[in-house]
Amino acid sequence: MTLQIRSLNQYKEVYKQSVEHPEKFWDEQAETFFWRKPYSKTLEWEFDTPSVQWFIDGKLNITENCLDRHIEDRGDQVAILWEANEPDEDSITYTYTELLAKVCQTANALKEMGIGKGDRVIFYMPMVPELAIGLLACARIGAVHSVVFAGFSAQALADRVDDAQAKAIICSDYSRRGTKMIPVKDVVDEAMNISCNSVEHVLVHKNTTQEVNWSDDVDSWWHEQVDCQEQTCPAEEMDSEDMLFILYTSGSTGKPKGVVHTCGGYMVYTCFSFRNVFQYQDGDVYWCTADIGWITGHSYIVYGPLLAGATTMMYEGVPNYPTPSRFWEICQKHKVNQFYTAPTAIRALMACGNEWIDDREMPSLKVLGSVGEPINEEAWHWYDEKVGRGKAPIVDTWWQTETGGILLTPLPGITDTKPTYASYPMPGVQPVLVNNEGELIEENNAEGLLCIKFPWPSMIRTTYGDHERCKNVYFSSFKGMYFTGDGARRDEDGRIRVIGRVDDVINVSGHRMGTAEVENAINEHPGVIESAVVGYPHDIKGQGIYAYVICQDVLDAKTMQDEICATVRKEIGPIAKPDVIQFVSGLPKTRSGKIMRRILRKIACKDEKSLGDISTLLNPDVVQEIIDTRK
Ligand code: WT7
Repeated sequence: MTLQIRSLNQYKEVYKQSVEHPEKFWDEQAETFFWRKPYSKTLEWEFDTPSVQWFIDGKLNITENCLDRHIEDRGDQVAILWEANEPDEDSITYTYTELLAKVCQTANALKEMGIGKGDRVIFYMPMVPELAIGLLACARIGAVHSVVFAGFSAQALADRVDDAQAKAIICSDYSRRGTKMIPVKDVVDEAMNISCNSVEHVLVHKNTTQEVNWSDDVDSWWHEQVDCQEQTCPAEEMDSEDMLFILYTSGSTGKPKGVVHTCGGYMVYTCFSFRNVFQYQDGDVYWCTADIGWITGHSYIVYGPLLAGATTMMYEGVPNYPTPSRFWEICQKHKVNQFYTAPTAIRALMACGNEWIDDREMPSLKVLGSVGEPINEEAWHWYDEKVGRGKAPIVDTWWQTETGGILLTPLPGITDTKPTYASYPMPGVQPVLVNNEGELIEENNAEGLLCIKFPWPSMIRTTYGDHERCKNVYFSSFKGMYFTGDGARRDEDGRIRVIGRVDDVINVSGHRMGTAEVENAINEHPGVIESAVVGYPHDIKGQGIYAYVICQDVLDAKTMQDEICATVRKEIGPIAKPDVIQFVSGLPKTRSGKIMRRILRKIACKDEKSLGDISTLLNPDVVQEIIDTRK
């Protein structure tokens, strides 16, 4: 099994080794996996192109490491434990043996549909076991999966399908989230009407008893295609650097980009980080509440836990259904040992009142994880005291879609924890702070831009179909370094606190959104002339979306706001809906015509006292107008 660090001294020693002899360190981690053919070289890299290759010429299949490898020792152990939306519905379990059989059947069905190595398959599904099974089935045959979070709109789905030139879409009929029943297949149909010309098949998993529209040309049922298949399927031999998946994420400009992860490095890093960050022990039940539509679900519901031979739980529903005790009920029901969730969920449950948790003792909990956004001090303490009863260390894990795995985190019971600090780098990770000029900030007790100066195995390799974009976004700001887009602070003892994005990306309930993307959506409304979107502090969501909009004329503000929200829903999805829409007659601009978001951000944060000098603006008068008409 992959190394599991157990003491502070060991962490310090391992970290030192991993920086002084990175190749040796990662060789030792890679050794514990099953390689069809050993790699000939550990690492080749340069960050200018960029070109990063790990475990060069190695041949493997990640599913043999997630599944086949475990059959002998733990074939009858539960691999996936699934909890339904409805509390009275039975849980479903798949042992490693059962999961392997299901994955093989599904892989055979995909092959029969003509899907093979390198083909892209889009997933648009709720949190059902078939989603995890489907991803592994793709990996089994070398197809590239790309999961689109099932809250995105038909347009957003179509954009991703087109960019990936996907050959198939795998979806469910409906998604159940609390009291809501969402017609997922209808959204796919709508996307197919918009474009999706590359799609030959839509495979539909039946999740409810509801009827759906059907088109015999492209649609087929999961159960009809999969259940009749053989339960074995040879694993496709993949190169370490073959694509494993694409996951779309937002940036500061343009349409979302497809972050590409490859087989070998991603496998080694997600397993290593899972075992260490959560200190998973045999027999533990691990639960990450994320949706597999985000990277957290990929790395720490599916791949990391299964590679480590863990029991990983999946939950179909939402935190507050049927009551705000649901998470704690599930923790009690399944004696969850490691619980990993997002600050926005913690804050939302905290706001419901302590009566939902006070009589919910959860002695099984050993480790609490936080991910997706900065966790504020109040939420941190509530998590620590109410959920963990002071006995379960919090790991505030910082990472990104692009990093593939957790890069900064405390190790529970091993390093110290400090509220709001992601604290320490994982072995093999070399974070640095730089100033705007790219000069290293060496001293502690300082703030700067967070960069990583050395490759780690699960890092982004390219942005799908546009390598130039990958270079420009991540590797051009500071020579020889990966730029995260985040600002960070290092305290007097060297712990790192990630403060938030320094680019035009906002983080709403842990969902990453480009302000430009939301603006483009708003501008689709025919009555809108121009708009500017910024983030502002929001008690539950972390950041809310504040939109300044110039319209031709606004007859009725409420109607116009509703229409703009509907437009955004249609273009992106409900998660991008502005929290505040303020109609303005102009936007503050520089003489060269650039919108001064800094000023708009300050106004949205009610912080206009520190606007600074605005006299050089093209239209300084508009600033006062915006302040005066703010709600
Ligand atoms: C951005 C990445 C990593 C999986 C989920 C989000 C912010 C993430 C933390 C944290 C402070 C955090 C950063 C980062 N972020 N975790 N523990 N503390 N900020 O992945 O959608 O790619 O977003 O989320 O700003 O850049 P993502």
